[in-house]
Amino acid sequence: MKTEPVNISFFKNKTAVVTGAGGTLCSAVAVELARLGAKVALLGRTPEKLESVTALIRKAGGTALPLVVDVTDVAAVEAASKTITRELGLCDLLVNGAGGNRNDAVTSTVEYQPAEIAADRPENLRGFFNLNPDILLDVIKLNTIGTLIPSQVFGREMARRGRGSIVNFASMNSYRPLSKNLAYSLSKAGVVNLTQWLSTYLAPAGIRVNAVAPGFFANDRSRKILMTEDGGLTARGQNVMAHTPMKRFGEAQDLLGAVCWLLDDERAGFVTGITVAVDGGFSSSSGV
Ligand SMILES: NC(=O)c1ccc[n+]([C@@H]2O[C@H](COP(=O)([O-])OP(=O)(O)OC[C@H]3O[C@@H](n4cnc5c(N)ncnc54)[C@H](OP(=O)(O)O)[C@@H]3O)[C@@H](O)[C@H]2O)c1
Repeated sequence: MKTEPVNISFFKNKTAVVTGAGGTLCSAVAVELARLGAKVALLGRTPEKLESVTALIRKAGGTALPLVVDVTDVAAVEAASKTITRELGLCDLLVNGAGGNRNDAVTSTVEYQPAEIAADRPENLRGFFNLNPDILLDVIKLNTIGTLIPSQVFGREMARRGRGSIVNFASMNSYRPLSKNLAYSLSKAGVVNLTQWLSTYLAPAGIRVNAVAPGFFANDRSRKILMTEDGGLTARGQNVMAHTPMKRFGEAQDLLGAVCWLLDDERAGFVTGITVAVDGGFSSSSGV
């Protein structure tokens, strides 16, 4: 990961808020924005994760402010916004990276099996008919409302000044639902829709709203699903690879160009409402 600062850029002295900044992908986004000269507020739930990214940024001479915030909690995001304004200035750029899935929100089977509605359903079988709607709602809330709330809170500051840029995190699940991932797919489809809606609504306020749709990037959760302990691929990992023309998983660095381009008013000033796939060709390939 490159950390040395660059001298001149659109990002110099801008205040950037990155949610999910302790995570696999958005920690790299936060480091890159700081490297380009932005003052970065890092939002997430786990202090240790935020602190290690903050330390990396500060060590390279950048400005970072870690804040433990649940993005689905309006009051917490409002409080964070006040701290950020006081410490770093009003928010210019927002990256809505906080998101994810839950193991108990996915089915264990890719298609209906009569046993899922049988009285003696095996304990390890979780089909559509066994999903708990409250757990699904939790995933949907994180990915959609957890994107909407920071867009409201920080977007309001942008609207007052008549400028700003927001980048959301969609997914390959946004376009075609991946097997097993009902709530996650539903919610990421919602992120693309929210991005389009907001881009239209906020255009008169001078705010651009776009998204990236990462393909398969290994993070703590997906690594266990895609890879074996000895570094090989699980059956699902092999299936993903067979549908990925570039024949590899993404690295966080692969996303930085798309995210920074979309945020940058000088390079993407007429771009709003789009979702850029960063997926090694996954969404273009039929796999046949
Ligand atoms: N990795 C992929 O292949 C992939 C593909 C497509 C889309 N995406 C999307 O890209 C984004 C980043 O993914 P990632 O791979 O970097 O995942 P990750 O490593 O799990 O990072 C997600 C971060 O979001 C934070 N977060 C979760 N719930 C939160 C909440 N309620 N409030 C504040 N922060 C919260 C987590 O913080 P805590 O750990 O502290 O809870 C975590 O640091 C997500 O939106 C994900 O859905 C990822």
